[in-house]
Amino acid sequence: MQTNQDDSASEILIRRPKGPLSPDVPRYWYGGDAFATHFMNALSSTFPFGEAFFVRAVLHFRDQIDDPRLRERMRGFAGQEGQHSRVHDEHVQMLVAQGYGALETRNRFIDRIARWQNRRFPRLSLSMTAGLEHLTALLARQLLSDPEGRTGPMHPEMARLWLWHALEEAEHKAVAFDVLTQVAHSYPLRIITLALNTFGLSLEVFERMVYMLWKDGLLFKAEIWTAGWRFLFGEGGFLRGLGADYRAWYHRDFHPNDVDDRPLIELNAPLIEAEILT
Ligand SMILES: [Fe+2]
Ligand SMILES: [Fe+2]
Repeated sequence: MQTNQDDSASEILIRRPKGPLSPDVPRYWYGGDAFATHFMNALSSTFPFGEAFFVRAVLHFRDQIDDPRLRERMRGFAGQEGQHSRVHDEHVQMLVAQGYGALETRNRFIDRIARWQNRRFPRLSLSMTAGLEHLTALLARQLLSDPEGRTGPMHPEMARLWLWHALEEAEHKAVAFDVLTQVAHSYPLRIITLALNTFGLSLEVFERMVYMLWKDGLLFKAEIWTAGWRFLFGEGGFLRGLGADYRAWYHRDFHPNDVDDRPLIELNAPLIEAEILT
């Protein structure tokens, strides 16, 4: 079993994207499509507390890692996820200003539970983090394999945000897994946490999306849901074709770097508009 695939691990650069989101971002910033916009809004709104949870989960085990290269990658991971949490919180503030205030209230509530869980169940928290990083890596690959097709319809500021985030998810996708393998590896825990988290995250995103569509008076419009189905599962849909890569996690000898994303990273890195901090 591979425990730490240094040879295939990407360099982890911490970047700061340009400026805060401006008021020019329209309400339906994803090509004027309410469903697609609110799906991405819902996902984005979970990142402020989610990624802060990841950082705490990984850094908790810092003193148990001797490998200097992995320690350096943990530092990169924390730096990247810290920036993601901050910038997606700016996005949440934009959504609150647009009238979706319940997102912030719910985030505060979940953040409290997440902090408690980090303290009380560090091993479970790390396993959840590694699993959720598998999901973000899948979504990142969807975006990076067709950056023009995926982000072309987006408002340029949102396109910049999603490309930047996707690139960094691909860069650090194996860090939490490698830490987990070294300090708290348990195959049953690893597969159970991803199964539960897949369900939990899907439900959370769905509820948030329903809330925003309801606020907009669009929840019961059949055409919204038909377009939404096409966006997610139709030809070239955002979640289409992910099954095999998703299920790979459940193989006993899985490692995130079994799929080499470095060509995608190299292809997309020049497109990222962000200041490199390290
Ligand atoms: Fe992230
Ligand atoms: Fe991540």
